Amino acid sequence: MSLKEYKNILSKINFKNSFKPTETSRVMYSSIIKELLNSDNLKKKKILDLGCGCGILTILLNQKFPNNTFYASDLDEGALLDSKENFDNFNLNINIYKSNIFDEWLKRKEKFDLIINDISGVSSYLTEETDWFNNSIPSEDKDGFELLKRFLNDSKNHLNSNGVIFFPILSVSNHKKALDYANKIFNIKLIGKSFWPAPINLQNKFDYLSKLRKDNIIDFEEKFGSIFFWTSVYMANQK
Ligand SMILES: C[S@@+](CC[C@H](N)C(=O)[O-])C[C@H]1O[C@@H](n2cnc3c(N)ncnc32)[C@H](O)[C@@H]1O
Repeated sequence: MSLKEYKNILSKINFKNSFKPTETSRVMYSSIIKELLNSDNLKKKKILDLGCGCGILTILLNQKFPNNTFYASDLDEGALLDSKENFDNFNLNINIYKSNIFDEWLKRKEKFDLIINDISGVSSYLTEETDWFNNSIPSEDKDGFELLKRFLNDSKNHLNSNGVIFFPILSVSNHKKALDYANKIFNIKLIGKSFWPAPINLQNKFDYLSKLRKDNIIDFEEKFGSIFFWTSVYMANQK
């Protein structure tokens, strides 16, 4: 899907009460779709969109692979409200529930063939400095890694055999720690990476960010005189 097509779908999606899709949403979709198009014809699979926000990833994936069963969940009421409205507008029948990570899926004893996790953490040192990362982005710990760690631990119990997970790691968290941890449990493959500019009120905090980078809490690159963070997207299966 071209950027134009992506933007066209985005323009038809309501995110009044939920997280506004970002460059991370776009690179997740484009890298996941590339992998799935390479695999055998994807059908009759159970696909979970964890931390679905306004439902954009489910809507995009459903357009490409309609002959599958889609599930979505989010902890945030606004996300549930918006995604239900968006699914209706796109005539999609999606199994959607409120859930703190896997809690609801555990109660329902559900397992999936593909799990797309978009609950990406941000270091609390950054969220304290800017309101750009709104409340939809988890920011409980200084490494911004605790929720991803829970996802990685619990996803094993929700995967069918040969199941696959997709998840992003952002440089606004301790990406080295996250990667080391993921590598211990899963066979992981980097499938996409994209740089995005730091929010305006962090651009002039170079010394503060450099100190965090030195302490391995976050990472960034300087390009064209500006600070850029990045999102890496991984695909993984069980060892
Ligand atoms: C980065 S947003 C991504 C939303 C959507 N996938 C997109 O691309 O626009 C992360 C989502 O995770 C949800 N979230 C945060 N903490 C969560 C948790 N503990 N359990 C479930 N969802 C959570 C947020 O409400 C938010 O909608």
